Amino acid sequence: MKLRSNILSFTLLALVTSATFAADSAPAGEKSAPNPGKQAIAVRKAAFTLIGASFKPLGDVAKGTTEYNQADAEKRAKRIVMLGEFLDGAFPESSNLGEPDTKAKAEVWTQRADFDKRLKEFKEHAAILVQVTAKEKSTSDAVKEAIGAVAKDCKGCHDIFKPK
Ligand code: HEC
Repeated sequence: MKLRSNILSFTLLALVTSATFAADSAPAGEKSAPNPGKQAIAVRKAAFTLIGASFKPLGDVAKGTTEYNQADAEKRAKRIVMLGEFLDGAFPESSNLGEPDTKAKAEVWTQRADFDKRLKEFKEHAAILVQVTAKEKSTSDAVKEAIGAVAKDCKGCHDIFKPK
C-alpha cells in the first residue's frame, strides 16, 4: 500500500511538473528562448537610434542652424563610427521579419550587395568625418562636405531599404 501511494504521488508529481512545463513553454518560451532574428533587430534599431541622435546636431551644423563645436563634433563622429560596428552582422536572413518587427524592407536581402556597399560607404564616410572634425576648428567647407557625405549615405540607404 505504501509503495502504491508512493508510485501514485510520483505519477501525480510527474503529471503536474510536465503540465507546468507545458504551460510555461508557450509564453515563457518565447521570452527565454533566444530568437537570433529578433535580437539582431533590437541591436540595429538601438544602434540606428543612437546614430540618429549623434548625427542630428551635425546635420544642423551643415544646414547652418547649429554652431560648430569642434570637440563636440569629433566626439559625435567617433560615436557614429563605434555604433556603425554594431550594424555588422545585424541583418541576418533570420531578421527579415517585416512589419511590425522591423522597418527593414525585404530588399535588404534581395539586393544584398547594394545594401552592403552602402553600409560600407557609410562607415568609411563616418571615419573620414572623424578625421576632418579632429582638425577643423570652424565650419569649413571640409566639415560641411564630410557631414554632407554621411547625410547622403543615410538618405540613400533609407530611400531604398526603409519605408518613408
Ligand atoms: C546601409 C543602410 C543604412 C544607412 C547607411 C543608414 N541607415 Fe538608418 N536604417 C536603415 C534600415 C534598414 C533601418 C530599419 C531598421 C529596422 O527597423 O530594423 C534604419 C533605421 C533607422 C532609424 C530608426 C530606428 C528605429 O528604431 O526604428 C533611424 C533613426 C536611422 N535609421 C537613422 C540613420 C542615420 C541618421 C543614418 C546616417 C547617419 C542612417 N540611419 C544610415 C538603413 C540604413
